[in-house]
Amino acid sequence: MTTLVIGATGKTGRHVAAALDDVRPVSRSSDLRFDWTDESTWQSALDGVRAIYLVPPVWTLSSPLVSAFVPRAVESGVERIVLLSAGGLGPAGGNEPALRNSGIDWTILRPTWFHQNFTEDYFHEQVLSGTVPLPEAGPGRHAFIDTRDIADVAVAALTQDGHAGNTYEISGPEGLSFREALDLIDKVSGRSTAIASVPPAAYVAAAEAGGLDTGYAEAVTYHLTAVAAGQYLSLTDTVERVLGRPARLFAAYVEENAAAWA
Ligand SMILES: NC(=O)c1ccc[n+]([C@@H]2O[C@H](COP(=O)([O-])OP(=O)(O)OC[C@H]3O[C@@H](n4cnc5c(N)ncnc54)[C@H](OP(=O)(O)O)[C@@H]3O)[C@@H](O)[C@H]2O)c1
Repeated sequence: MTTLVIGATGKTGRHVAAALDDVRPVSRSSDLRFDWTDESTWQSALDGVRAIYLVPPVWTLSSPLVSAFVPRAVESGVERIVLLSAGGLGPAGGNEPALRNSGIDWTILRPTWFHQNFTEDYFHEQVLSGTVPLPEAGPGRHAFIDTRDIADVAVAALTQDGHAGNTYEISGPEGLSFREALDLIDKVSGRSTAIASVPPAAYVAAAEAGGLDTGYAEAVTYHLTAVAAGQYLSLTDTVERVLGRPARLFAAYVEENAAAWA
């Protein structure tokens, strides 16, 4: 059964692709190019595919491209889709309705903020610059998750029975404030990373300048503000329930990646 992995160079997709035998990994940079914004690339990616790990377009919360793609996948014979969604999306649920209304097996993953944002995304550059700006920085804790744990849950949902129709809220095993997370990074790297509290409107403007659409930039800012205020810990035992082992600790991720902040 060929599984299509969309976003296969990304933080979760590459681990999902590596764990599967009969897999077609795609993104804009794959040999078989798949681009959300170019519908002419969709069908060749879908030919002969029975299951999909779907990382949606990352610049927007809810995309009409996903709503158009899912029925095309179903017509093409796809029987199962695992969607990477996000925690705390609210009742509209981002791209989730496209799956829920698809008529095929679906599993939705709603992870917390990724550990890997500190090595492979915006927090990395900020740590290296010496200052991490956060909207309304505060002492609230968040249960950051390792993307390898998300990928393992995705692979279980793609390859095993019993996960269809489930919406999995996925988190790491403990709550950490941004200060506590950065202290762990500082300890292995000899840094003294500062946190700069910025007004939420300025944070939204900076995120938009970085390429996010307004809704996505506002959602990121809203969640970071909620984290700071202690309203968004989101601790779950999903990894343990699905995989039968505990989720990875942030401290273990930091030890493994110490060189990234050297
Ligand atoms: N980061 C977090 O903490 C977090 C937390 C919860 C949920 N999420 C959700 O996770 C999802 C992934 O976000 P991420 O920022 O971590 O990205 P990512 O999965 O690390 O990278 C994005 C992937 O999508 C591919 N891609 C980008 N634009 C594309 C396009 N137009 N067509 C096809 N493929 C494209 C990229 O490969 P190419 O560049 O090769 O095309 C890459 O493989 C998002 O939906 C986000 O909302 C993220």
